[in-house]
Amino acid sequence: MREWTTEERYRELKKEDLGLLKELHDQVRQSPWRCVFHVQPVTGLMGDTNGFSCFDGRWHLFYQWFPYGAVHGLKHWYHVSSTDLLTWKNEGLGIGPGEIYDDKGVFSGSGYPEGDILYLPFTGNHRDENWIRTPYQLLAYMTKDGIIHKQEEPLYGPVDGYTEHQRDPKMFYREEDGYYYYLLGVQNEEKKGKFLLMKSKQIQSGWQIAGELKIRGYEDFGFMVECPDLEKVGDQWLLLFSPQGLEPQGDEFHNIYNNTYLIGQMDFDHLEFIPEGRMKELDRGFDFYAAQCAGQKIWPDKAVMCAWFGVSDYSYPPANEDGYSGLQTMARILTIEDGELKQRPCEAAYSLKSDIVLNKKKGEKDVSGRMPKASVIEVKAVQGDVSLRLWCSEDRPGFTVKYDAADKALVIDKSGLINQLNTDYGTSRRVVLENGLKEMQIFADCSSIEIFVNDGEYVLSARVFPENTENGIYCEGEGAEISVYNAGTTVKDDFVIFPEQAEK
Ligand code: FRU
Repeated sequence: MREWTTEERYRELKKEDLGLLKELHDQVRQSPWRCVFHVQPVTGLMGDTNGFSCFDGRWHLFYQWFPYGAVHGLKHWYHVSSTDLLTWKNEGLGIGPGEIYDDKGVFSGSGYPEGDILYLPFTGNHRDENWIRTPYQLLAYMTKDGIIHKQEEPLYGPVDGYTEHQRDPKMFYREEDGYYYYLLGVQNEEKKGKFLLMKSKQIQSGWQIAGELKIRGYEDFGFMVECPDLEKVGDQWLLLFSPQGLEPQGDEFHNIYNNTYLIGQMDFDHLEFIPEGRMKELDRGFDFYAAQCAGQKIWPDKAVMCAWFGVSDYSYPPANEDGYSGLQTMARILTIEDGELKQRPCEAAYSLKSDIVLNKKKGEKDVSGRMPKASVIEVKAVQGDVSLRLWCSEDRPGFTVKYDAADKALVIDKSGLINQLNTDYGTSRRVVLENGLKEMQIFADCSSIEIFVNDGEYVLSARVFPENTENGIYCEGEGAEISVYNAGTTVKDDFVIFPEQAEK
């Protein structure tokens, strides 16, 4: 891909560029890797999930966005909305950079709905003429007419004792003490990743430092923690975060940066999170980062989560060449059952299945056929080994999913595809299933695959960029029933850059 100058990277979105962006969108739409049931950038680069929330009867999701190309440049928030978490509508620009506090980027943040307002706290990325960065925590808010306003004054400036890396506020309210809080990912002066809690009696002002949130049993998390999220799910708390600089341990933490979670209790008096169980990876595949749960008040016992279907500092060259990069994962419903996190596809995902294209009954050895562009694959009633070759071709196995019943290990392997990505971090991932494999639900959408294992026990996600010749599917496993369905389309790839272009 061509080199981008700093000036090009920091180009702010302007109405006069609509023609240019239309051309880029026309090019993007031609890409063979455009998805049909995932949120993808209208043009340019998509990153973290931001401002995810349920407000005024709709789900709202924003994503980190650089409109002009597949590079990390001046970040904006792009807005999409949905009523079912699967059918997404392009709403256009959400928040753009301002003149001072976020002049070099509207960084990540969350959504907190209250009354007639959806509050959208985020990090403003300011840089001075010497390119020295100062982070500010800022507030935007959306009214019921869909208009987003930005509060002029920051909620808070940089906090002493930490480096320039202080960002990604996740806001919530705590009834017990009547305080609003936001949780930040920060780097301390010893270059360690930490969590910082801020609090106030009202959202717009009065913020003070509550203190560092300590995590019992853990000193720190690599060199930086990004995109923290703290949710009450039933009687327990779920802490999601994206630590940078973890070392691999056994089968876990093999990506350049990982997205992890802890389940436990919050002690607000001592600002301590008390884990019940160890830190685990949210997704056991290759491409998953910056997960965020929706701010919502309808389901106290569950959380709804989306994530960036990609990782910072990875690159996805095939789509990048077409002028875009990034995807959001499907929305997942999270529950904690017997102390274990369960992640299931959102309800609407079950309606994706259309006609069946391949079926292997129990007792049959194998079946093969053509891999649909977008599909749902169900593997049921597993007894014994299972082996799938997805996007396989004459001389390559494609993306393989193999379960070995003897050691209860499920292995995904992307080395058999033509387009190889980010291979420095390995080409296979392995999960040992304590109770063996029972079933899998696989959602494969043109350039992505999400594998839900054992009714939400594990999820493994990967980006894949199959070439035209990689269009086969082969399923083997006498002891399992395997069905492949075509999947429907739930995202409209329409050209919406500004809100006024959005479909009414
Ligand atoms: C995570 C991240 C956030 C930051 C944003 C900038 O991917 O680095 O910490 O707010 O991306 O795009």
